[in-house]
Amino acid sequence: MKRLGINIDHVATLRNARGESHPDPLYAAKFVTKCGADSVTIHLREDRRHINDIDAKKICKLDKVLVNLEISMNSEIVKTALNIEPDFICVVPEKRKEVTTEGGLNLVLYKNDLKKIIEKFKKNKIRTSLFINPSIKDIRICKEINVDCVEIHTGKLSNLVKSKKNYLNEFNKIKACSVLANHLGIEVHAGHGLDYETTKILNAIDEIKEFNIGHFIIGESVFWGINKVIKSFKKILKN
Ligand code: PXP
Repeated sequence: MKRLGINIDHVATLRNARGESHPDPLYAAKFVTKCGADSVTIHLREDRRHINDIDAKKICKLDKVLVNLEISMNSEIVKTALNIEPDFICVVPEKRKEVTTEGGLNLVLYKNDLKKIIEKFKKNKIRTSLFINPSIKDIRICKEINVDCVEIHTGKLSNLVKSKKNYLNEFNKIKACSVLANHLGIEVHAGHGLDYETTKILNAIDEIKEFNIGHFIIGESVFWGINKVIKSFKKILKN
């Protein structure tokens, strides 16, 4: 069965809206794991707009929770991440003014810098993935720089599906990249903008081993509760 990683950044967004301590991302990390999440994703952004250093440290110390820490290539953040010792790292591009991560990394431009970052994490036995666009060229660069996993940005496919446009071309791109990465020994993950419908669509790609989903799960939980929402996603991934 494919794994489900839950991004809990928006629990911190909600907490920060009040400037108090509720809802607590640490509690959320434990709770979603109990409900069936295979891992928890948190993004320690340079502007600390949701998860902060204290949250990240506490969450990474939890025994029974696998933590995927998303970070930019910023050297201070890389240092902090090495200190915090998450189970997994996902390197993502980051722009100060973006509302959310808008696309994958520019691998042609940052190949050498990324190679150095990956080596540091690998030395510390931390599984490392790169958030990339569905591009065959990028998959080949990932192989060159020895990444463990890629997470394919599914934002474009999600937008096409949500606006009822033809998504087949984008689906085929994601499929071709997943097949090649898998063939090259790189584990494939997918994430961004996913909901029930888009997860069902992408679940047809056998090579995708993990989905990382945040905004929809937290939003849908307002109506149905996070336990029910997680169970619904797990049901989709079983098929
Ligand atoms: N994967 C990565 C690498 C991300 O940066 C994010 C959040 O931007 C997600 C998954 C989750 O995206 P969403 O919140 O749209 O489900």
